[in-house]
Amino acid sequence: MKKVAVLGSGNGSNFEAIVRYFKDYEIKILCISDKSDSGILKRAERLGIEAEFLPYEENEKFFRSNKFELGVLAGYMRILTPQTLKYCDFVNIHPSLLPAFKGKDAINRAYQYGVKVSGVTVHKVSEELDSGKIIAQYPVFIDDTMNLNDFETKIHETEHLLYPPVIKSILENKLFSFDMILKNDAGGCGSCGGCGH
Ligand code: GAR
Repeated sequence: MKKVAVLGSGNGSNFEAIVRYFKDYEIKILCISDKSDSGILKRAERLGIEAEFLPYEENEKFFRSNKFELGVLAGYMRILTPQTLKYCDFVNIHPSLLPAFKGKDAINRAYQYGVKVSGVTVHKVSEELDSGKIIAQYPVFIDDTMNLNDFETKIHETEHLLYPPVIKSILENKLFSFDMILKNDAGGCGSCGGCGH
C-alpha cells in the first residue's frame, strides 16, 4: 500500500479534503505537524488518521528512516532543508497563481493589490520558498462584489477541489488532467465546471 505523509502547521482543511477524497483508495495517510496544538492534528484524531507531532529539527532523521511515496505539504509553514528533500518527493499547495504572491498572507496580499484573477498552485517543493516546478493551477476570479472573506472562501474551496486529484495523478504516475476535476472525481455530472450536480 502506498504511504503518503501530509504535513501541516495550521488549520488542516486541505488535509481533511485529502483524507475524504482518498477514503476508498488503498493509500495510507500519515498526518505530521510541527505544531503540537495545531488544528490539523485535531482533525486527524477526529478522522481516525494516524498522526504525529514532529518538531521541524527532526524532519531529516524522520524521512531518512521512514519511506513515503509522496510528502504533501498542506499549510506547512517551514522550508524543508535540502537534506530532508533528498529522502522524499514533496509537493505543496499555495493560495495564489505562482510566481505571484509567494510567501505568507498571499490571499490578503493579492486581494489588497487589486488583482482580478488569482487562484491556487500545486508545485514540486524545492529548496526555495514556493518555487518548485508548477504541476497544476486553477484560477479564481475576483469581481467588485467580492469582499476579502468571500475571496478567501473561494480560494480554499478551490484548493480542496484541486489538490486531491493532483495528488492522485502523481501517485498513479499520470499527468494531471482537468478532466479529473470536471468529471466524476469531483462528484459532478461532467457537463460544467463544477456546479456539484
Ligand atoms: C492554505 O491556504 C495553503 O495554500 C497555505 O496555507 C493554507 C493552509 O490551510 N499554504 C501556504 O501559504 C504555503 N506557502 P489549511 O491548514 O486549512 O489546509
